[in-house]
Amino acid sequence: MPASTWSRQHILSLADFTTTEYNTVLQTAASFREVLSRRTKKVPSLQGQVVANLFFEPSTRTRSSFEIAAKRLSADTLNFASSTSSMTKGETILDTAKTYLAMGTDIMVIRHQQAGVPQAIAQEMDRLEVKVSVLNAGDGQHEHPSQGLLDLFTICSLLDPNNPRLDLLKGKKIAIVGDILHSRVARSNIWSLTATDLELHLAAPPTLLPKLFAECGQDRPGKLFVHWNLESALEDADFVMTLRLQKERMTAHLLPSLREYHHYFGITRSKLELCKSNVKVLHPGPVNRGVEISSDLMDDLEFSLIQNQVTSGVAVRMALLYLIGSGKTS
Ligand code: NCD
Repeated sequence: MPASTWSRQHILSLADFTTTEYNTVLQTAASFREVLSRRTKKVPSLQGQVVANLFFEPSTRTRSSFEIAAKRLSADTLNFASSTSSMTKGETILDTAKTYLAMGTDIMVIRHQQAGVPQAIAQEMDRLEVKVSVLNAGDGQHEHPSQGLLDLFTICSLLDPNNPRLDLLKGKKIAIVGDILHSRVARSNIWSLTATDLELHLAAPPTLLPKLFAECGQDRPGKLFVHWNLESALEDADFVMTLRLQKERMTAHLLPSLREYHHYFGITRSKLELCKSNVKVLHPGPVNRGVEISSDLMDDLEFSLIQNQVTSGVAVRMALLYLIGSGKTS
């Protein structure tokens, strides 16, 4: 696996990812997908290293996916949940991170409800001149790079399972629909999907898709388009990514009702008729059935890639841990 070409110590954002880095992640993840299909699904790549999952916000799939990925690489894992930690006694986030550092942690996987926390911890590790890597597992509304990469891997693997790579997306039309305002997943996906020549169409009511995103579109002419209605975004789309309404991040009443939202922006079989006939639907989860996507469509394997995304997540997170971790043993 091409770890020797990898120089990034922390994975905090996709904003400055290069084409080579995207392709290295995709190829490495494809190798680990093969490992995961074997009877013995474990490799010794990170034997003796410690991966700490520091989750300051609820999570099902991201936390479990990083844990199983680290275990498949033979790393030792530590799991932290803020509600049962010494943070309830007043310890700061940086002191918590330093405690894990003192226990010999090599990689910290961090999720926090505030944007910038993984960056702050990475800066502190750099200041201390320790060889610890920080992986952002979702920070506030900012970014969720491993989700962006697993979405990319899911799509590229469908187009060429043996050789997933960025240029397979050339000429495709992808729509991202839903609560884009509050979505770190959308922000990471905007970086990864506009790294190649495809059309990315964002669609949501104006309260969930501010004009600012249209300005981002002006920076990416011919690549990023903003719609305040669903139909024009779906027309001839190859892939549709739908997002949860993130009520925990909403500070005002941004929608008249969930029923009305589903009527205008919920993805259903009949709305998919506007797309290419072989269109596929993605969702990062957790899903609110019957709100952003109809329940029957979510379970329809002819259209839905939602379970593939979860499976891809393990291979992609193995790739990320391996790429940042394999330099440490030397
Ligand atoms: C997303 C997240 O936490 O940002 N979920 C995930 O990581 N799979 C999206 C969401 O919470 O809606």
